[in-house]
Amino acid sequence: MPAVADSINVEEMTGEDPEVAAMLVELTLDEQEHYTHPHETRDQVRRRLRIQATFSGENHLLVARNSQGAAIGVCWVVLFDPGTGLEGELAELYVRPEARAGGVARMLVAQAMELLRRRHVTFASVWTRDANPAALAAYRSAGFTVSDQAVLTWLPIDDA
Ligand SMILES: CC(C)(COP(=O)(O)OP(=O)(O)OC[C@H]1O[C@@H](n2cnc3c(N)ncnc32)[C@H](O)[C@@H]1OP(=O)(O)O)[C@@H](O)C(=O)NCCC(=O)NCCS
Repeated sequence: MPAVADSINVEEMTGEDPEVAAMLVELTLDEQEHYTHPHETRDQVRRRLRIQATFSGENHLLVARNSQGAAIGVCWVVLFDPGTGLEGELAELYVRPEARAGGVARMLVAQAMELLRRRHVTFASVWTRDANPAALAAYRSAGFTVSDQAVLTWLPIDDA
């Protein structure tokens, strides 16, 4: 660890701090240079970033029903804005086994995409397994691609 760490104190920010906001703007401007997605200007980044202590989210449960009204599939969409812009996650996607391979997931994901576009979501993600070709196909058809960013996850397994 560099010696500079000896004189550093880490504390949680309370209220507003323009120096912190400035660091987050610099981070965003620096990082976007490494990706091909549309780049923002400094002003656009400043306007988008709204640092706040709390934020709320929304659950949208999109349900596919057959002609008898029975639920045969569900897509659970989560929307939230931590202060960096509205984000979305397709948290769950399920079609009852007897209704599979008939385009139900495709319809559900299409509706989810309509919601994301209508709400001007800035970033959306979904998790699945490489060995789940139907889910991968449904997400790819809707425009999701494998990320060129490194995604690292953590589980509290060793802490137990
Ligand atoms: C994944 C799941 C939601 C797909 O539902 P579905 O209604 O059968 O899917 P669809 O019929 O709409 O097909 C979606 C795409 O997958 C393809 N597909 C369907 N079944 C497939 C299979 N067994 N193997 C490969 N591709 C398949 C379709 O051709 C379609 O591709 P396209 O959009 O390029 O035309 C469903 O299998 C399921 O509920 N699985 C268990 C839960 C699960 O794995 N959820 C996803 C977790 S992230």
